[in-house]
Amino acid sequence: MDQITASIRDMYEKYPYPTGAPNNRLGSDVDLILSYGARAPEGAGPRQVLDAGCGRALGLIGAATFQPEVQFVGIDINRVGLAESKTAVDQRGLKNIRLQEVDLMSLDGLEAPTGGFDVIHSSGVIHHLSDPAASLGLLRENLAPHGLINLMVYGRNGRDPLLKTAAAIDVLFPDGTPLVDRVALARQVATFGTDGVLKGSRFADTGEVNDVEMVDRLLNANETTYDIASLWQMIDTAGLRFVRWAEPLDWQVELQVPASDLRDRLLKLPIFEQYRFLEMVLCPPMLEIMLAHKDNAPRPELGMADIANAVFRVSPEITIGTSVRHTPAGPRTETLELRVRNQDPVPITAGPTATALLAMREWGDDLPGRELQQKFAALGLAPADIPAVILELVRVEVLYRPYR
Ligand SMILES: C[S@@+](CC[C@H](N)C(=O)[O-])C[C@H]1O[C@@H](n2cnc3c(N)ncnc32)[C@H](O)[C@@H]1O
Repeated sequence: MDQITASIRDMYEKYPYPTGAPNNRLGSDVDLILSYGARAPEGAGPRQVLDAGCGRALGLIGAATFQPEVQFVGIDINRVGLAESKTAVDQRGLKNIRLQEVDLMSLDGLEAPTGGFDVIHSSGVIHHLSDPAASLGLLRENLAPHGLINLMVYGRNGRDPLLKTAAAIDVLFPDGTPLVDRVALARQVATFGTDGVLKGSRFADTGEVNDVEMVDRLLNANETTYDIASLWQMIDTAGLRFVRWAEPLDWQVELQVPASDLRDRLLKLPIFEQYRFLEMVLCPPMLEIMLAHKDNAPRPELGMADIANAVFRVSPEITIGTSVRHTPAGPRTETLELRVRNQDPVPITAGPTATALLAMREWGDDLPGRELQQKFAALGLAPADIPAVILELVRVEVLYRPYR
């Protein structure tokens, strides 16, 4: 184990990350993630997922609870976190999680499925490694040909206030000062002054976070941050390609920039330059992307002619909100709103999309295109409107097309 990895392990074993309870976080649905790639999964058998750097396995336990038919492997070097995770997995009686102590810098000992993992998650991990690109390359070697990697790394521009505060803290401490002695003073630096760099930033709460979060944010033993140019470079070096953002809406000029000369000008730029512009003005603190092998690609868009033979499913990443009034004539739906992932909810007024959304709250099964069309017709949608409604629901990611 190299020196950086040893210091990182020591830090996370003293302050195992994250704190809190297991959660079913967005971006963990395997079938949805696989649907982003153009290559259909080969072979039968349960899907196999790796969580690379699972920490205290909170996301892993949430994902495995909601997807009992999927097999999950969680790896980390933090023996304290792994022991706690094993206890939590056993207490819940989860049989579809296997935990292993594995160093991401070598992957030695990883028990990977023969055909590779269908999906690999790695959230907030590889930027702490001594050689993130090399480790990403090793993950690629363990990814099935159709597989997707869901990767989150720190965004350099967005973390600037934290980086400056961490640099100020470094001035205070000669090398070798025990971590425990640094935490209390780090908290004072984080709350210092009325015009301190963290004040008014998205990290303004740093003075109040618990010690685990404080150490992760300001006293980390090793951390690299990325802008999208350096991230793209690393992806390429690792033999992978960008498929999509985990939240594409945050990266769409049409949504982020109001109609103006500025927007018109931006839209004439190549897509990478549009991303670079948004990165610099919006300063995201995290960059979360879906990656695939270079010979895979984003799935082609659905066309009208493809609807009948496609299969659809309601996305697990939407929330449909209704308010129902109890009138003397019976319950009446008064408002309807749609929320996609963590975006703001959007009110949906009467119309074919509203009718379709209300019905979809009850749908759990896969729906072949012809059946979906019949269902919409039975709801009273005009046959001529149905294909456009389906395409729109796919475009806004309310419906998706799982591979089966
Ligand atoms: C910030 S935590 C993220 C945990 C989890 N992915 C999450 O999102 O909650 C980073 C994790 O990466 C693990 N880690 C760091 N270097 C590692 C390495 N070389 N091999 C395996 N795990 C490593 C740490 O032990 C820690 O649990």
